[in-house]
Amino acid sequence: MRKPIIAGNWKMYKTMDEAVSFMDALAGKLKDSDASETVICPPAPYLATLVEKSKGLPIQIGAQTMHENAEGAFTGEVSPAMLQSIGAKYVILGHSERRQYYNETDEAVNRKVKAAFEYNLTPIVCVGETLEQREANETSAIVSDQVKKAFAEIDEANAAKAVVAYEPIWAIGTGRTATAEDANEVCAKIRSVLTDLYSGPVAQSIRIQYGGSVKPANIEELLSMSDIDGALVGGASLDPESFAALAEAG
Ligand code: G3P
Repeated sequence: MRKPIIAGNWKMYKTMDEAVSFMDALAGKLKDSDASETVICPPAPYLATLVEKSKGLPIQIGAQTMHENAEGAFTGEVSPAMLQSIGAKYVILGHSERRQYYNETDEAVNRKVKAAFEYNLTPIVCVGETLEQREANETSAIVSDQVKKAFAEIDEANAAKAVVAYEPIWAIGTGRTATAEDANEVCAKIRSVLTDLYSGPVAQSIRIQYGGSVKPANIEELLSMSDIDGALVGGASLDPESFAALAEAG
């Protein structure tokens, strides 16, 4: 049985004071600390502070992206070595907003997945289709190709530790959630692709999240599905009450 993983992607929201207040509020609300693996991915400037704030709490901290290199002349970038040095444990890679706004390619995502494992960071690898691709019945092909390219040359031992997040782009920030059945169908396809790439047990151990307008009102149904092992949450992760409800549903 895969332990659910609920991750909050704060994107570019909150001040430092708001981030600290969030952690204080969340700490008081997580009752069943074993319900799910709970991860907060704040903006980079807050990572070290929130790692400190998370000590003693059932909360891990992750980054929203990172560079593929350990160091170098890459103005504004954050390296896997830096994330490891401050105690971050997860890193979101290949989010659709990074693919869209920063031209992040499948090949770049793969290089970052390799770098994440090199620095003992667990990658949350994002895949998903556009509305046009869904309406053209291309979802399965698009998502399968993204998974294959993200996991190129990743060995079984590392793959087993990875998390994949299926985020239909048309459901992100729109309030329009994929039905649990549709989301599960794609997550099952992702698991099938992983089974072709690796052994059955490895594919079965990889957690597959759904992301795209996840809320406390729809989390239970999503988690009841056979191949959905958690959620990557945007808007609903910004409120401690709401995020605690999601973490407890795991
Ligand atoms: O990475 C999670 C995010 O893309 C989903 O956003 O606001 O639809 O939950 P939201």
